[in-house]
Amino acid sequence: MKVLSNFVDWIDARFPLTKVWNEHLAQYYAPKNFNFWYFFGSLAMLVLVIQIVTGIFLTMNYKPSAAEAFSSVEYIMRDVNWGWLMRYLHSTGASAFFIVVYLHMFRGLMYGSYRQPRELVWIFGMLLYVALMAEAFMGYLLPWGQMSYWGAQVIISLFGAIPGVGEALAEWIRGDFVIADATLNRFFAFHVIAVPLILVALVFVHIVALHAVGSNNPDGIEIKKNKDANGIPLDGIPFHPYYTVKDIVGVIVFLILFCIVVFFIPEFDNWFLEKDNFIPADPLKTPEHIVPLWYFTPFYAILRAVPSKFGGVLAMGGAIVVLFVLPWLDRSPVKSIRYKGMLYKTILTVFIISFLALGYLGTQPATPILTNFARVFSIIYFLFFLLMPFYSKMDRTKPVPDRVTK
Ligand code: HEM
Repeated sequence: MKVLSNFVDWIDARFPLTKVWNEHLAQYYAPKNFNFWYFFGSLAMLVLVIQIVTGIFLTMNYKPSAAEAFSSVEYIMRDVNWGWLMRYLHSTGASAFFIVVYLHMFRGLMYGSYRQPRELVWIFGMLLYVALMAEAFMGYLLPWGQMSYWGAQVIISLFGAIPGVGEALAEWIRGDFVIADATLNRFFAFHVIAVPLILVALVFVHIVALHAVGSNNPDGIEIKKNKDANGIPLDGIPFHPYYTVKDIVGVIVFLILFCIVVFFIPEFDNWFLEKDNFIPADPLKTPEHIVPLWYFTPFYAILRAVPSKFGGVLAMGGAIVVLFVLPWLDRSPVKSIRYKGMLYKTILTVFIISFLALGYLGTQPATPILTNFARVFSIIYFLFFLLMPFYSKMDRTKPVPDRVTK
């Protein structure tokens, strides 16, 4: 043990190892009342690691060229040792990432974690979300199946709707008049290196911002307001070992569920891997229904709900942009849903139902009746945010206790 402590001393004289360990783990005080909803930040980090590691192994055998991409994926699935496992871990990981991140965002929404002083934690989170969408979108082109090809064709052609520069912009993104080899090559470059670097950097600043202000909690009470004589928050407990151990429980349960999907239901009935994507891309044959994967469908439904193409693009973009300004829309005197009134709780429930309904509608063919439903839910989606400054003030909130409860 003496050898170990000498070694740590040697490192500490050259690198702030113990200092960082203490400031961010052993003497980092987190609220003692974290619940189930606080698992998803660490799980998002775990999934990011899974995606990077499995991605590295996939890259060893994948060929980013229009002529070889599809068959190189089949080769990985059939001939490369454990290739099928790497691919299923990666494809399941993509959906798991969004499940975890959506739950993580919902937690923020419930407990008002985006509010002062955590606005930047939220903004970095939103940037992560946008980067994640870009990562998933570009990754989906790589297997060069029918859905890869036509999905990318539909989304990139949306840029064409921008007045004036649109067509030139879409062509510039594709590097060709249609999705082609050049598009695949640049998407590969972005997917394997550029965006992952951005994701890792954003996770870093997300955590730095969080640790500067400290975590929120299910009560929405600032634990830094009540400190003991030593300056330690009365309602805080050291992150390590208490939450490291708690997070391990989350990791184990998550990995069990994740492995069940990977080993028994990797396609998840068309939700995680689409049937049409097992057909090689054919630029001359448009699939009957072009549907993005489930995590994009709420926004896809909003896009299709607007009659004009450009209007749809603006609405879809606006649906994401409005999330960035959420910290400035909520005027409630309390942070957490626990102390908000019936008005807010009802509106939040209606919003969640609308978002899920949009997600479902985005998977369905755009028939006139379903499009009308999508219009109603899209309007509710926007009203939730745009009316927030008013209803969050009108809501009859409950008194917030001084100390955290349970
Ligand atoms: C790759 C994606 C992400 C990773 C790895 C990540 C990681 C984390 C971690 C480890 C925490 C601390 C533990 C916890 O509170 O659960 C956290 C907190 C937080 N994250 Fe994220 N996050 C990601 C995406 C997002 C997104 C998309 C948002 C919202 C737009 C967001 C908003 C927040 C907020 C507001 C907190 C503070 C929560 C509180 O203190 O109550 N994060 N994140």
